[in-house]
Amino acid sequence: MIRYQKLGYVGINVTDIERARRFYENIVGLQFVDTASDGSVRYRCSDDYYNLVLHPSPHPGFRYVGLMLQDDQQYETLRTRLEASDIPYEKMSSEECSQRRLESGWRISEPHLQAAFEFYRPLPEDQRICFTPSVTRIRRIGHVVLATPQYEQTLAFLRDVLNFAESDEIERTIAFFRLFPNPYHHGIGVGMASRNILHHVNFMVSEIDDVGAALNRFKRNDVPVVFGPGRHIASNSIFLYYLDPDGMTLEYSFGMEEFPEVGPRAPRTLPPRPESLDSWGGVRDSRMSTVGVVHPFEVGSGWATFDTPAGR
Ligand SMILES: [Fe+2]
Repeated sequence: MIRYQKLGYVGINVTDIERARRFYENIVGLQFVDTASDGSVRYRCSDDYYNLVLHPSPHPGFRYVGLMLQDDQQYETLRTRLEASDIPYEKMSSEECSQRRLESGWRISEPHLQAAFEFYRPLPEDQRICFTPSVTRIRRIGHVVLATPQYEQTLAFLRDVLNFAESDEIERTIAFFRLFPNPYHHGIGVGMASRNILHHVNFMVSEIDDVGAALNRFKRNDVPVVFGPGRHIASNSIFLYYLDPDGMTLEYSFGMEEFPEVGPRAPRTLPPRPESLDSWGGVRDSRMSTVGVVHPFEVGSGWATFDTPAGR
């Protein structure tokens, strides 16, 4: 059993780094950390060194997710799992670890999404950092959801190879996984789509007031709200979805069901109808989860150069 600590970070591609910086700092409320040597810009919303990384790119979308392992022994379990399924992996070089501020890290390409999944251990000195909230009392990066036409195969890979624990599924629409034994209802989600896309990135907030204040802040700053406020039946979270300047979908959530490691309730399959997504009866804006490709990654070759049209 691979044991995870938590979802640690998400890297996304943005087309206009200065515009994105203003938005993620002043509207989302992330704390600027630094600009890395590769030009990426790092932000924090919890007591980690960073939780969101912006990469300049001609195509907005998902670049990688960082899954913190519980301890160093988990790499051996991971290796066994990957080798048994013929999944190639690469270890980050010491140069990359130092540039990324990680003690160690391995990376795979999820075989259906072609998405970079990173498994890492943080630097010991980076585990005593304090997030300073500004416009929103964000507690942590909550989850990332990707969507793919190879929906069933991706679910099987996350469950059977990576040992993510399924919490709930809205039948053939979206499935929610916790990073076992992390208690939160989901750290990763997988949706059904006609191509590999970024569905949304979530930030968990501390108070319901953060959701209400965000609604007014978004109105003042012409930020499109695309779903919510509402309440998800699956996780019991109150949610608010909105768009970043590229049109990628972000979410604030307040509250989330937590699972015990031993004796958790069985996963449920909810019917694929709108009330399963929002018990308050809200309707999604058609722009939700339409912008953002998965930047294809291959072990040994890195990220595709995007000389092909977006949306492959
Ligand atoms: Fe979400």
